[in-house]
Amino acid sequence: MQPLIQVESLRKHYRDGKGLDSGHVVPALDEVSFAIAPGSTLALVGESGSGKSTLALCLACLERPTSGRIWFGGRNIAALCEKQLRAVRPQIQLVFQDPASSLNPRFTALEIVTEPLVLQRIWKRRQTREWGVALLERVGLSMEMAGRRVGEFSGGQRQRLAIARALSLEPKLLILDEALSALDCSVQAKIANLLLELQSSFALTYLFITHDLAMAAHFADEIAVMDRGRIVEQGIPEKLLGSPQHEATRCLVAATPGSIVTLNIPGVC
Ligand SMILES: Nc1ncnc2c1ncn2[C@@H]1O[C@H](COP(=O)(O)OP(=O)(O)OP(=O)(O)O)[C@@H](O)[C@H]1O
Ligand SMILES: [Mg+2]
Repeated sequence: MQPLIQVESLRKHYRDGKGLDSGHVVPALDEVSFAIAPGSTLALVGESGSGKSTLALCLACLERPTSGRIWFGGRNIAALCEKQLRAVRPQIQLVFQDPASSLNPRFTALEIVTEPLVLQRIWKRRQTREWGVALLERVGLSMEMAGRRVGEFSGGQRQRLAIARALSLEPKLLILDEALSALDCSVQAKIANLLLELQSSFALTYLFITHDLAMAAHFADEIAVMDRGRIVEQGIPEKLLGSPQHEATRCLVAATPGSIVTLNIPGVC
């Protein structure tokens, strides 16, 4: 099967000084290659600073990679100009850890969800509103909440709102960058289940970035481990966690409290 997205030898180098010629180069991504099959979930784990968010930003076309290719819809989107990227960006959406900082506090829930459609001028007002209300209901926010503003929602409800907004343009790929990390356990489980339901009803493909190995094992078809800008190991959860090959994977497994065991993954204890 053709992958939905295929990344080849991706590099992203930042300069950590102020001027263009000053400072040394930080290789945030270094020869990263992987593919995600349509409708599947790849979890990306790795210690802080290993390059996960940089990869998310490059895939969502919000950062330009230094070199390498990102194949999506038959095109190398890493080589497209700004005008061409405008057609690609709606298809790859990003949900962050802290929705409060990315959602406009002055907007109602309905305005937040429908804004991307309004900006793209896709539908008439009534149709846009109906789609917005349907999306809010689909993520578990009732019609009565449509007029509330961000400040009136709990953390879990805000994350539901951010997910509804990300789905408004019917993307193919949803990147969840620590999207569940700030939530407490029971809310995390509810939103994880919601994401699984949405995946099948919207035929979504996920890149699920997390620090939580147990959640990655529960949620993903495959796990990729990042270490200092590189993917050092990738495989199905049972195998990767049952017999980790790379030191970085072993460290992550060792640092995870017994919770992976409760997920009933053979070989992990
Ligand atoms: N805009 C930037 N300018 C300079 N360096 C950056 C920039 N963004 C990221 N970096 C550096 O790139 C490396 C990777 O950062 P990134 O945010 O991708 O890590 P991460 O794996 O998402 O970490 P975390 O788990 O803490 O979110 C780090 O060394 C970081 O300091
Ligand atoms: Mg990050």
